[in-house]
Amino acid sequence: MDDKQLQSLIEQMTLEEKVAQLLQLTPNFHECSDQEGQITGPMQELGITDHMVAASGSVLGLSGAEAVINIQNDYMKHSRLGIPLLFMADVVHGFKTIFPIPLAIGCSWDIELAEKSAEIAAREAAVSGVHVTFAPMVDLVRDPRWGRVMETTGEDPYLNSQFARAFVRGYQGVRLKEEHDRLAACVKHFAAYGAPEGGREYNTVDMSERQLRESYLPAYKAALDEGCEMVMSSFNTVDGIPATGNEKLLRGILRAEWNFDGVVISDWASIREMIAHGAARDDHEAAYRAIKAGVDIEMMTPCYVQHLPQLVASGLIDDKLIDEAVLRILRLKAKLDLFNHPLRAADPVRERDVVLCREHRQASYELAVKSCVLLKNDNVLPLHQAAKVALIGPFAQSDDILGWWSCEGKTEDAVKLGDALSARMQAGALKIIEGCGVHTIAEHVLEQSLEAARCADVIVLALGEESAMSGEGASRTDIRLPQAQLELIQRLKALGKPIAAVIFNGRPLDLHGVFDEADALLEAWFPGTEGGAAVADLLLGHVNPSGRLSMSFPQSVGQVPVYYNHFNTGRPFNSAKRGERYVSKYIDADHEPLLPFGYGLSYTSFDYSELSLSSSEITANQTLEVSVTVTNIGSRSGIETIQLYVRDISGEVVRPLRELKDFTKLELQPGESKVVTFQLTEEQLRYHHSDLRYTSDPGQFHILVGPNSCDTLTDSFKLV
Ligand code: BGC
Repeated sequence: MDDKQLQSLIEQMTLEEKVAQLLQLTPNFHECSDQEGQITGPMQELGITDHMVAASGSVLGLSGAEAVINIQNDYMKHSRLGIPLLFMADVVHGFKTIFPIPLAIGCSWDIELAEKSAEIAAREAAVSGVHVTFAPMVDLVRDPRWGRVMETTGEDPYLNSQFARAFVRGYQGVRLKEEHDRLAACVKHFAAYGAPEGGREYNTVDMSERQLRESYLPAYKAALDEGCEMVMSSFNTVDGIPATGNEKLLRGILRAEWNFDGVVISDWASIREMIAHGAARDDHEAAYRAIKAGVDIEMMTPCYVQHLPQLVASGLIDDKLIDEAVLRILRLKAKLDLFNHPLRAADPVRERDVVLCREHRQASYELAVKSCVLLKNDNVLPLHQAAKVALIGPFAQSDDILGWWSCEGKTEDAVKLGDALSARMQAGALKIIEGCGVHTIAEHVLEQSLEAARCADVIVLALGEESAMSGEGASRTDIRLPQAQLELIQRLKALGKPIAAVIFNGRPLDLHGVFDEADALLEAWFPGTEGGAAVADLLLGHVNPSGRLSMSFPQSVGQVPVYYNHFNTGRPFNSAKRGERYVSKYIDADHEPLLPFGYGLSYTSFDYSELSLSSSEITANQTLEVSVTVTNIGSRSGIETIQLYVRDISGEVVRPLRELKDFTKLELQPGESKVVTFQLTEEQLRYHHSDLRYTSDPGQFHILVGPNSCDTLTDSFKLV
């Protein structure tokens, strides 16, 4: 259907039918009115009638081909104008085949694999009846206390933007209408949800518009530039106004400036939550503010269905606003080909073949391998072939490795670390003992692990957090490993045996009690369905670790927020003069993070040399070539991530110490050298000035190239 046909459809709709298109509910509403049409349960609570449910435009959180087919068929039977329902769900890092959490995917720096993971997630979800995914989540985060840090790809606007684009490409493909195995994507949470004060969930976000545009908006914009069909507004305020009622943000930046004409959906109940924010007196005013601001679909509260008809009748809201919102929703339904194929790819037979198929599991394995980051290694890893290993800890045989937002993932499908190691090691070489729970330690279990450790050559500790310790509603003030696990480490450490620790978790942790104590440390994050297999292969050296942190690890929570692209201040800390008092630092902790952005080790080593620039000056329409020689100086092949940073020495407003501008991944054999060349243009040197102009300034720039944001070779050039 084209816009003209959709317009004529809208002309046939009553105001109530139009407004119902703007309502999104969970599937239980479709199932909860009894035979006589009496209103029961949640409908009554929300004040929603049977009528409204029957005409509502979309459903969230339902999947499974059979269930979707039943609801859609039933709905179509009763739909007066033959308008199909849209099915949306949180397909965040995989559907049934679960990929590593997005923060881990960020650490892969592997854009192609990220795209593939989204394509696979789309295929599995589509065949199970889903049309739209509430992903990608691209909120930039600098505070690991915030639980939803596991959902983001990290702290950098450029890297996040690359991933945002990749996820959208993977979910949507290029021809959404024809490719029924793809999903429409919904970028979230617009905007700046990742910057709540103190890292506390749902808390106030307050920052300058310049900072918002410079660091926080680019990844949403990148997703939209890639054609992302939907946007979800966030729970937080932006400059004092809840994002869901924020006209400047939604109609101003999103629609007028960026020309976005797709669907905007509220987050769960975020229209009504404007009342709690103190930005609306009641549902009536909340509906008024949200529709004026440009929110098309209301998720899970009834402000629109109950109040828009009256707001229109009283002339407070122009009915054009309603028609526009309906048109956008119907257009999305048409783009998804639902008018011709209301069931789209939903197919219970194909569903059985597609979900968790071998190819999908293999892709999940590859991404897990690439996402793990080797944080420390004093000659313990890879494990020696003949070594006797004691695998100890709450994650030794845990299937809680999928991570939050793996809604359809089943822990029983996950490969556990202990099982994977057993399958790869000689009989008798591996002893597996839980040692302690995530939060509890029992003396007799501890005794067993000490006993096993005494007989082993090396201790592999499998530690971490339960999935529920990160994700939505899981902000924390203490981001160390639970005390029971720290105690386990202490007791085992006393044996004097080499310890390799693996941690399964959802945020950059304060690694006190494990970083110094362990001889090797592998950050596995929540690695997904094939997590155990991936980690086992990394520990045994069947594959070489190549992940790089996409978020800094703090020394302690008191240092938070600590991120690599900060400003210098007028009294910068100087590492050569640590005792200096009147400089920007703490007196009770190091200035630097424990582990910087971009950091990660390999079982081989790389040397960087001969950084050279094609010129010492460029004009605005010239390109600077930046070359560096990278050599594998170790004894096994490995993948290196070569990172290019720029520092603008003097700007109209202060500029970060370094900013990632480009990177590339390279596999090098032992002894092999390659010259890597980056192209840098004036466009990459632009920034938001005090009047929000996005331009560059002539002047001096540093170029920094290296394996992470700290260890870099430096040169400089001038933009003239
Ligand atoms: C979350 C969103 C999610 C939505 C629907 C909300 O609580 O903030 O990220 O998409 O629920 O499940």
